[in-house]
Amino acid sequence: MERIIAPSLLSADFGNLNRDIEMINRSNADWFHCDIMDGQFVPNMSFGFPIIEQVKRMAQKPLDVHLMIVDPDRYLERFKEAGADILTVHIEACTHLHRTLQRIKLLGMKAGISLNPHTAVSLLEDIVAEADMVLIMSVNPGFGGQKFIENSYSKISRLREMAEKKNQNLIIQVDGGVDLTNAARLYAAGANALVAGNAVFKASNPEEAIAGLKNA
Ligand code: DX5
Ligand code: ZN
Repeated sequence: MERIIAPSLLSADFGNLNRDIEMINRSNADWFHCDIMDGQFVPNMSFGFPIIEQVKRMAQKPLDVHLMIVDPDRYLERFKEAGADILTVHIEACTHLHRTLQRIKLLGMKAGISLNPHTAVSLLEDIVAEADMVLIMSVNPGFGGQKFIENSYSKISRLREMAEKKNQNLIIQVDGGVDLTNAARLYAAGANALVAGNAVFKASNPEEAIAGLKNA
């Protein structure tokens, strides 16, 4: 499967946002990962529509928007208008996930489901066929720069097995503590999309770090 690298702008320098966006445009990266936090679903706040709109104006690659917010249904249209190409909601935040995914796709976006570290992959049995992507959180969402949770490997392989039966085109994305030390094992477990914040933006050469993650 095609490998997708999505640098997380949460770790970018917001005083030099255009410079960091241009770096990603030039690099081997595939998507711009935008983390949206509301201070309720996660104990942190990040950024909102004005920043996403600015990223959209500069970006030459798709915007992969990861919603860490309660009741995401209220804002699906608004994220589409702001420029989201892939919209991921948390399973823990959706009472009617099937309907939410249908609405995201009707709006013309790819639909992703994200799982917190404690959430079992088996909960996806009856919904995985409706998703374009599943995002396995490999840290508790809310902050960049946290330590990778080892149990994530087993979740990824169980999900890839499920996808072989139910959705062969499923993109399996991993987010949290991803770096050059675990990327190869994540691909081997069945992931094909990696999000990286600190591993890209705190690297002495971010473009090289992106290429390293892609070819790990
Ligand atoms: C965490 C966010 C991540 C974060 C990853 O809640 O969803 O996308 O930016 O950052 P690193 O790669 O530094 O763990
Ligand atoms: Zn994220």
